[in-house]
Amino acid sequence: MTKVLLIGSSAREHAIAMALTRADVEIHAHMDRKNPGIAKLCKTFTIGPTTVRKKIPDLFGFDYAIIGPEAPLDAGISDFITSQGVPCIAPSKAAALIETSKSFARIVIDQTTPKANPKFQVARSVDDLRRFEKKIGVENMVVKPNGLTGGKGVKIFGEHLNSRDELERYAIDLLHTTGVVVLEEKLQGTEFTLQSFSDGNHLEFMPLVRDYKRAFDGDKGPNTGSMGSYSTPDHGLPYVTPEDLEVAKTIMDATLIGIKRKAGSAYKGILYGQFMKTDSGIKVIEFNARFGDPEAMNVLSILSTSMDEICQGIIDGNLGQVQFENKATVCVYVVPEGYPGPDVVKDSPLDLSVATTAELYHASVYEKDGQILTTGSRAIGVLGKADTVAQAREIAYANASRIKGKVRYRSDIAQ
Ligand code: AMP
Ligand code: GLY
Repeated sequence: MTKVLLIGSSAREHAIAMALTRADVEIHAHMDRKNPGIAKLCKTFTIGPTTVRKKIPDLFGFDYAIIGPEAPLDAGISDFITSQGVPCIAPSKAAALIETSKSFARIVIDQTTPKANPKFQVARSVDDLRRFEKKIGVENMVVKPNGLTGGKGVKIFGEHLNSRDELERYAIDLLHTTGVVVLEEKLQGTEFTLQSFSDGNHLEFMPLVRDYKRAFDGDKGPNTGSMGSYSTPDHGLPYVTPEDLEVAKTIMDATLIGIKRKAGSAYKGILYGQFMKTDSGIKVIEFNARFGDPEAMNVLSILSTSMDEICQGIIDGNLGQVQFENKATVCVYVVPEGYPGPDVVKDSPLDLSVATTAELYHASVYEKDGQILTTGSRAIGVLGKADTVAQAREIAYANASRIKGKVRYRSDIAQ
């Protein structure tokens, strides 16, 4: 039996564990926090940091490892595992720069498909900042930390930053702490996610997903890790034309080559593209070196090809066609009351026993005396799967509303 080490403890890794279970492999999990959903699916698990080499379990006997989150990639854990002779379904630290360094990503895009970039500046001084302000106008700017921030570091003028002073203070603060800040033109349009499996030579694309990042209905409020997502039975999205999709695929194919050229290392694993459809074409918002959360739930829950077969194809560099069911999926994130604010309700018990017709993905929850409790972050991804989006939506919401506890959710996912 294939023996797999799965690293990570969020709902995304719960979705990967479900796909591996369907593929009949033996899962051993390494989690920084015990995820009750994953714990149920694996043969053994260890709890410890996922970003420290010495804390990674003994790799003897594993056929391969899958790394779910981005932080271990940034810490070089994939390179470490590969150096121990165990293939890794995840890019090297150098190739993962496509997510972990926003400047690296913008530069790769500039070298491959420059039209997919907004106007941008990798600023290393206050002079650079002022020059960019003059060029595009402070009211049209987005300020991004260069490194990882869990999706919460991007600040947009008019939304998070309301004056030149505020924008400059944030940008200069980042310059002082990290020596660099990425400045971008503020784009307007609708976003979509295109994920792919990469064997280093080519990409196998997954169904498109629409992700809802804002905390409240009507896309209001602060950015969160995401409040929900949906995908359709034909794997497209109503506002993405076949031509748009082709453009997005071309950008990702070119990026795969661009990463190899710039990082000197072939990109293997999951390549995630987030795009915005704007009046001036399809633009890249960001790339991730992993599955999206919750997008992983949308695509893995309808994966027809064996996840084990896919992983073997990635390792061997000869990944074949990957198939998905023609089903719609809607994922609604149930989050603690107050999320994502400072007064978020923590350690509150949840009753999940009545939510029985949806797939429940455990995110940031823990188990105590047989009870599931919330932390301060997203709790449960509730996924409905059906022939139409409307039916999948109904299943997701019927079950989300049955979950008892001090929780809330957006009511307009996939509306
Ligand atoms: P990121 O962490 O790069 O995904 O950014 C978080 C969110 O900020 C994205 O999902 C977008 O909604 C928004 N965003 C990022 N970059 C831009 C941009 N250049 N223009 C407009 N919105 C952006
Ligand atoms: N859903 C966005 C992300 O995983 O980054």
